[in-house]
Amino acid sequence: MSELVYGCMGLGGDWDGEEVTVDAVDAAERAVLAALDAGMTTFDHADIYRRGKAERAFGLVLQRHPGLRDRIRIQTKVGITLPTDDVVGHYDLSGEAIRGRARACLERLGVDHVDTLLLHRPDPLMEPQDAADALQELVGEGLVGAVGVSNFSAAQMRSLQRHLDLPLAVNQLELSLHHRGFVEEGICVNTAASTSAPFPEGTLEHCREQGVQVQAWGSLAQGRYSGRLPDDAEGADRRTARLVARLAEELGATREEVVLGWLMKHPARIAPVVGSTDPDRILACAGAQRVAASMSREQWYALLTSARGAGVP
Ligand SMILES: NC(=O)c1ccc[n+]([C@@H]2O[C@H](COP(=O)([O-])OP(=O)(O)OC[C@H]3O[C@@H](n4cnc5c(N)ncnc54)[C@H](OP(=O)(O)O)[C@@H]3O)[C@@H](O)[C@H]2O)c1
Repeated sequence: MSELVYGCMGLGGDWDGEEVTVDAVDAAERAVLAALDAGMTTFDHADIYRRGKAERAFGLVLQRHPGLRDRIRIQTKVGITLPTDDVVGHYDLSGEAIRGRARACLERLGVDHVDTLLLHRPDPLMEPQDAADALQELVGEGLVGAVGVSNFSAAQMRSLQRHLDLPLAVNQLELSLHHRGFVEEGICVNTAASTSAPFPEGTLEHCREQGVQVQAWGSLAQGRYSGRLPDDAEGADRRTARLVARLAEELGATREEVVLGWLMKHPARIAPVVGSTDPDRILACAGAQRVAASMSREQWYALLTSARGAGVP
């Protein structure tokens, strides 16, 4: 399913351990309402975002809008421990951590279940059977609707899926016009550049074959092609930003819609996760699917070759 997902990493204030302020909840509310106006109904979280404050702020927004919970899908992720003065940053996909952290997410969000729970990043110490048992238990208890992964390769997905009775529903990966290893991996096959594509081979194909939704984090490339670059920037980025602006005019679209439309034109039905907290910028993403449908093959390749700074092999 291709859709725009709203990414909640920017909600809740600073990355400190302080309480969520009323100002932060007000800002989160403005962003959430803009996302709804832009047609986004899936909200992406993680327990670590703003050290728990993104989920807390979101929970307070839900309290302000009775009935909203039933109109949206909530996704969250567990598995990363952020570094502190006393603890080294690390991953933990042990069954015990998955169970405990998922419950803590529900508490912060103030909900009785989340629609999807993702394992945030592969943990080399993960025992697939142990992680799968925890995920199934959470689904069995009705605390989680569906399960998925993030930043996993096809091989890692297969290894986990072997122990799961329910299908992995999502893989969330960094994909954008800037972080375009998923395209490079395919077009550089049988060329000298084939080993330098920073994307796990066959992962997109695996997701498509298995019906796993591919979600793209960093989908706006942090605004690199849609207004963030300084006017005097040089090189492929600058040229691509100019091309995005020109195509936006030709297609009667915003620059954000062109950048996201480029992703959504891909037949893997990529669902971009939009991480802006600016209501105007969120609304500027609304028509990305329409732009994807009207973007020609030539325009799509023009964006690709401009961003890579070279023609296709
Ligand atoms: N699974 C994972 O490992 C993972 C990792 C990172 C993120 N995520 C998820 O993906 C979502 C999106 O990721 P992201 O935030 O890295 O990527 P993004 O959506 O590409 O970028 C959003 C950021 O770029 C800024 N931005 C966008 N356009 C701009 C412009 N024209 N001028 C100035 N600033 C601009 C936004 O600022 P404003 O807020 O001011 O618009 C915001 O800080 C997150 O919210 C999170 O849900 C997942």
